[in-house]
Amino acid sequence: MNRKDITMDMNSIPGRSDRVKIHLIAAARPNFMKIAPLYHALKNERWADVYIVHTGQHYDINMSDAFFRDLGLPEPDFHLGVGSGTHAEQTGKVMIAYEKILMETSPDMVIVVGDVNSTLACSIATTKISYPSIRNSKFKSKNLNHRPLLAHLEAGLRSFDRSMPEEINRIVTDALSDILWTPSPDADLNLKKEGVPEEKIVRVGNIMIDSLEMLREIIEKQKMARSLGLDPGRYAVVTLHRPSNVDTPRSLGAICEGLEELSGYIQIVFPVHPRTMKNLVSFGLLEKLEENDRIILMEPVNYVRFMSLIFDCRFVLTDSGGIQEETTYLGIPCLTLRPNTERPVTVEQGTNRLTTAEKMVNDARSVLSTDGADFRVPDLWDGHTAGRIVKNIKELSLTL
Ligand code: UD1
Repeated sequence: MNRKDITMDMNSIPGRSDRVKIHLIAAARPNFMKIAPLYHALKNERWADVYIVHTGQHYDINMSDAFFRDLGLPEPDFHLGVGSGTHAEQTGKVMIAYEKILMETSPDMVIVVGDVNSTLACSIATTKISYPSIRNSKFKSKNLNHRPLLAHLEAGLRSFDRSMPEEINRIVTDALSDILWTPSPDADLNLKKEGVPEEKIVRVGNIMIDSLEMLREIIEKQKMARSLGLDPGRYAVVTLHRPSNVDTPRSLGAICEGLEELSGYIQIVFPVHPRTMKNLVSFGLLEKLEENDRIILMEPVNYVRFMSLIFDCRFVLTDSGGIQEETTYLGIPCLTLRPNTERPVTVEQGTNRLTTAEKMVNDARSVLSTDGADFRVPDLWDGHTAGRIVKNIKELSLTL
């Protein structure tokens, strides 16, 4: 069937059972802006039945519900409610709960995003499920009538640092996936080097830029900095949550010292992740930060308010993966408090620079003394990634 035939068939409305039943898995804060554009794009397709599965890895209102609201996502169709735990507990709980949903609902395709524990857990559950009766696989040239097709969005990223739980999650998820949607050429290359057949790899671009563009007008109207009494361009945003930075008194203490010193040069806004808050309290580091009137500490903020803070800031100091990408797209300097990054394109082409607790103040001063960073937005980071994914699913599907 050629592309034209597919398009023509798309216009006849298939019966519900002929539609492609797709599960979109969401678990933690960085996942929500990755599933939202795809959910909205698939919802418009008459051949697709799309369901949101929330594993419940993040459960606080401002880590989850607020993002669903901002991104126009409905209540999840399935909520696994797994909550926090050790890595094995969390992964195991998601696998057990999601296996039941798979058995009850038999989706044709499962889409996992990013690199959190739930991504790994749902990938394992999906590729090991065996439906009791043979179904017609809806996917061309895939003998998958006993299980759904597994697609990984944001495939191929590698930090080459296996002490990061996310790196393990990325490697295993990619090894299991039938379709690997990548954001950049380095990701394609990593997968090829690992022996992934070329036909499984499809470069689609960066889905988070779709969310940003979808909400740009609302973000621009938000003026979050003003509401905090800050002048645009005259403050830095800090976010921290990586275990390597926040889980020991030594590492978190060194960063807090750096922040104290940095606050002598620029005001700081620091929305504090729950893991980091817990540790600031238990290591006795919170009080000193609270006493500093050049540092504004706040609870994690929703997507629109956070992006508004980013739009207007002078630079960002972070250990997040997604913020490295968003700042590259926006041309805002980013100092990443990590020894490596799985997103090298943000350093090679973008505004990102790796730093340490010891170097961060000097690096920040160098940012402050420079007018605007040289940067190039990577190819396909253009707000149209969801459309490319929908097209790819159409091409893969037999029923359309
Ligand atoms: C997880 C992901 C990480 C991602 C990050 C974004 C893994 C291994 N890690 O890390 O890749 O960058 O999400 O935030 O999957 N907590 C709350 N409320 C919540 C969520 C968490 O209080 O809504 C607390 C809990 O005490 C929990 C701790 O934060 O133990 C850590 O949460 P968890 O999901 O295990 O890991 P993150 O550090 O958020």
